[in-house]
Amino acid sequence: MPRDAYVNGRFIPHGQAQVHVEDRGYQFADGVYEVIAVHAGKLVDEEPHLDRLDHSLGSLKIGWPMSRAALKLKMRELLRRNLVREGIVYLQISRGVAPRDHAFPKSKPRPALVMTTRHARAPNRALLDKGAAAITIPDIRWQRCDIKSVSLLPNILGKQQAAEAGAYEAWQVAADGTVTEGTSTNAWIVTKDDKLVTRSLSHAILSGITRLTVLGLAGEEGLKIEERPFTVDEARAAREAFLTSTTSFVLPITTLDGKPVGDGKPGALSMRLRDFYLRYMDAEPAAPEARLSN
Ligand SMILES: Cc1ncc(COP(=O)(O)O)c(C=O)c1O
Repeated sequence: MPRDAYVNGRFIPHGQAQVHVEDRGYQFADGVYEVIAVHAGKLVDEEPHLDRLDHSLGSLKIGWPMSRAALKLKMRELLRRNLVREGIVYLQISRGVAPRDHAFPKSKPRPALVMTTRHARAPNRALLDKGAAAITIPDIRWQRCDIKSVSLLPNILGKQQAAEAGAYEAWQVAADGTVTEGTSTNAWIVTKDDKLVTRSLSHAILSGITRLTVLGLAGEEGLKIEERPFTVDEARAAREAFLTSTTSFVLPITTLDGKPVGDGKPGALSMRLRDFYLRYMDAEPAAPEARLSN
């Protein structure tokens, strides 16, 4: 299977792709990224992903390395070269290469763009049938989680903690006892009176594109939606829980900290939303209006 990466203007065999040692993304995590799903050869929710990229870049005063239209063409070219019909494209933009110094370089280097692709792994049927386990951990991240920064240390430590506990995800909990989000997913519950609850957008969470799409689909279905913070206690008492992300789609959570959520089986509403989402991906994706927090 061919596998090229795109690095600063060139398509290069993945194994030979390299960045400069003084790339600020490498030295300072001074960069942002996006992960976009590819389904049936099409980029899912491409426009909202690029809107969020624009928000992340703008928040860090990093310029676009090329026009949005040119970036779209390069993404398509990489997918075509790598024969990806089901999978993801990863793209990362750093402030560029400059002698190591914390402040933004006066030389104004060209932002560095790297893109890779991956073929999707077969969906894990057992995980879907059983549902995923989640644990709760303190949210130790910074106060601009709305920026999709490559600075992910707290997230990887949290995900590792989940893995060591035999769980799929860790739900991060703010000092006030409310769940912010997973380490790489957004968090949702369904209350006993069938309300769909997910945290409202703010600097405390990433504006997940899957979250946005699922909110739109739930609205179209006339489901009761509350965008507000919810506590860990509410999650424990919920009828259902699930998570959303570009790579997990909609995934039911059936245990939280080892205790069953609801009846401990994937919830009916969670599975319905998963089906809606899969159907949405099958259809020509019409991008919902992006709602990004500042
Ligand atoms: C912290 C965090 N929250 C939520 C998400 C889900 O976002 P999306 O639905 O755009 O994949 C991600 C995805 O990487 C994430 O890293």
